[in-house]
Amino acid sequence: MLASALVTPELPSLRPPFALRARVLTPLAAGGTYHEPDGLLLVDAAGRLTFVGAAGDRPAEAATALDLRPWVVLPGLIDLHAHLPQLPNAGLGAGLDVLTWLDRYIFPLERGFDEAAAERLAPIAWRAFAAAGTTTAVVHGAVYEASLDAAFQAAAAHGIRAVIGKVMMDRLTYDPTIEPATILERSLRESSDLIARWHGRDGGRLRYAVTPRFAVSCTAEMLRESAALADSTGAYWQTHLSEDRGEIAEVARLFPDALDYVDVYERAGGLGVRTILAHAVHLSDRELGRLVATGSHVAHCPVSNLFLASGVMPLARYLEAGLSVGLGSDVAGGPELSIFTAMRVGFYAQNAMRVAGLASGPALGPFDWLRLGTLGGAQALGIDDLVGSLEPGKEADLIAVDPAFVASVPGSIDDDPEDLMSRLMFRAHPDMVRAAWVRGRALEGPGARG
Ligand code: GUN
Ligand code: ZN
Repeated sequence: MLASALVTPELPSLRPPFALRARVLTPLAAGGTYHEPDGLLLVDAAGRLTFVGAAGDRPAEAATALDLRPWVVLPGLIDLHAHLPQLPNAGLGAGLDVLTWLDRYIFPLERGFDEAAAERLAPIAWRAFAAAGTTTAVVHGAVYEASLDAAFQAAAAHGIRAVIGKVMMDRLTYDPTIEPATILERSLRESSDLIARWHGRDGGRLRYAVTPRFAVSCTAEMLRESAALADSTGAYWQTHLSEDRGEIAEVARLFPDALDYVDVYERAGGLGVRTILAHAVHLSDRELGRLVATGSHVAHCPVSNLFLASGVMPLARYLEAGLSVGLGSDVAGGPELSIFTAMRVGFYAQNAMRVAGLASGPALGPFDWLRLGTLGGAQALGIDDLVGSLEPGKEADLIAVDPAFVASVPGSIDDDPEDLMSRLMFRAHPDMVRAAWVRGRALEGPGARG
């Protein structure tokens, strides 16, 4: 048998407060990584971690622990950038440039993402995120307001932590109902209404991101008004930036007065600490400096960047400059939801940079990639006081992974934590995440395939 234990019968009925005994691996907010081969996690009635440590140090009052060993408990992964309506086309259109791919594979799909389609697909998508180990997902929806309500409703019921936004486009759009004279006002009103209904719901588990698609799809006025809306409501602002050369050239053509792509967003008032920019593959030093100076965040989507032949992000240069970076799947630009896969492909892409003489210095190691996919994402969202690592006081957003799925020889176990993390990213298996929790509440999805 591949897995060491396929089902733990008590798992589905576990409710906070509870105690888990497991191998524990997590980055720490103060730096470094914590590993405990025989660990204990205590989750209180509110779904918060009250103890993370060695089972031998268990507090006297601790409840009886459910023993998950040899499973490993990690912080839930954070996907900083994906597209909910695009899941059905994941894996299609490899090698196309992004503008052609949008035209052929994505706009026709999103055009059909009405309320009924969202009601059908969103529950499936949230379960799929959780099955991949993602407990926080930041997603673009489609342009239709009612489909966003359906997506939020499904997230509310599922339990995942989610940041969602209605896509805004007042040019280069698929929206058949578009009325050039009223599209801006209507898109702002619908976004504003969605913010009123959903931003901050369930104690902040659900949040809103004002979502102008990218500079090719939005006029300067739409970019400006959308940024003002995010500012005045405290919502996030998310968009795409500098993904491929053809797109960058088109932005230069549409915004001839701007210094560069970043300047288009800066002039709109879009940069800042609640801003998440997907891709940012081809930044000049000036652009990089502006993102760092404004505290803006980047969702690094290496799988998508290679699938669509967009380019390779010079990650080491960006991190050296102090840029805030998390990881994104960019489904369907990336074919898979797994952030473990994003770590693996990101590593390979960085190695390719080094081989080509385009990057130097030490390579990021497995713990660095784990940090990017957890705390890095939490910092980008400004919720690292709540999630991103397993530390007392934080909310219990956790995943349990069965390392038997990644063993190269059946029955072998990596005692060394860095070896373990290396296997989890380089030999990630679609069924290895056996359970996921947000605030100590189990999510549907993991374990569904046996
Ligand atoms: N740029 C604008 N829209 C999109 C999208 O849906 N996916 C990707 N990868 N890039 C985009
Ligand atoms: Zn995207």
